[in-house]
Amino acid sequence: MPTLALIATGGTIAGVAASATDTTGYTAGALGADALLAAVPQLAEVAQIRAEQLFKLDSKDMEPGHWLALGRRVQALLDDDAIDGIVITHGTDTLEETAAFLQLTLAGTKPVVLTAAMRPATALSADGPMNLYNAACVAAHPDSAGRGTLVSFGEAIFPALGLRKCQTHRLDAFAGTSAGAIGRHDPVRYFAPAADAPARTFAAPADAAALPRVDVLYVGAGTPPDLVDLVVANGARGIVLALPGNGSLPAGWETPIARTVAAGIPVVCASRAVLGAVNRKTLDDRPGTVAAGELPASQARVALMLALAGGDATALDRLLADGYIP
Ligand code: SIN
Repeated sequence: MPTLALIATGGTIAGVAASATDTTGYTAGALGADALLAAVPQLAEVAQIRAEQLFKLDSKDMEPGHWLALGRRVQALLDDDAIDGIVITHGTDTLEETAAFLQLTLAGTKPVVLTAAMRPATALSADGPMNLYNAACVAAHPDSAGRGTLVSFGEAIFPALGLRKCQTHRLDAFAGTSAGAIGRHDPVRYFAPAADAPARTFAAPADAAALPRVDVLYVGAGTPPDLVDLVVANGARGIVLALPGNGSLPAGWETPIARTVAAGIPVVCASRAVLGAVNRKTLDDRPGTVAAGELPASQARVALMLALAGGDATALDRLLADGYIP
């Protein structure tokens, strides 16, 4: 039987409400890892589990320092011969950022599987226990090795990059890249064999101060382009634009963006559309900017922070060219 590490970080999966019928008014991250395990005795049939509590956070309060601490702990477990796979429980709200950070910085082929829940642990029909069980099945499954960081949620298994939360309340809250889920549960099965194990893209810096500020600007019809100068003046070292459609840049933004790129501040063009990619062709008339490809703005921000921390913003372009861009 495999041995899995369970790292609990909080979230709705550990949430507690006053009433079993309350699915929105609750405290996220209230329960400890032991309580999560106790709710799913069937886990004992899947693996031996060593549980630890790293944080008890509502994931809206996750910060780069938490990503770094989690990444260091996961890497130590990946390097531990006694551990076969790792399950991380997390809030759904910023799960996509943490998943991207882990995917981009971890080295190793053992499964790393994030899971979460939309209903608190106290709710009628809470989804957390089944999600935790499924995540453990994924982490214990030999076909999960070499696939990088995975997210097991609801019926589906997603790769970390390209993931985005796309529902505020529904249980099928996540979507992946244009290709969709890569696998399903009961039993765990993947739709394609694992490709070559992804290499670590960026080395994680030692502390959060080394992760530069990158701001996401949401561009709506008529949004004033002076926001660009504002965030740069406030210390942003990179900008991600959440643009309409396939990364369309309103005419009034062209000059400030060209000026910003010329000043050495990288600009990544993502879409504010819920699903789909921004492709390189869109940017032919926008020299110096980078297309986010399949990454949502939230994940493009994490990738750009890491690229800037490594002193090589072009690493982001290479990453996107390497498979996250059509
Ligand atoms: C959180 O992200 O921690 C709260 C919301 C959730 O987990 O669904």
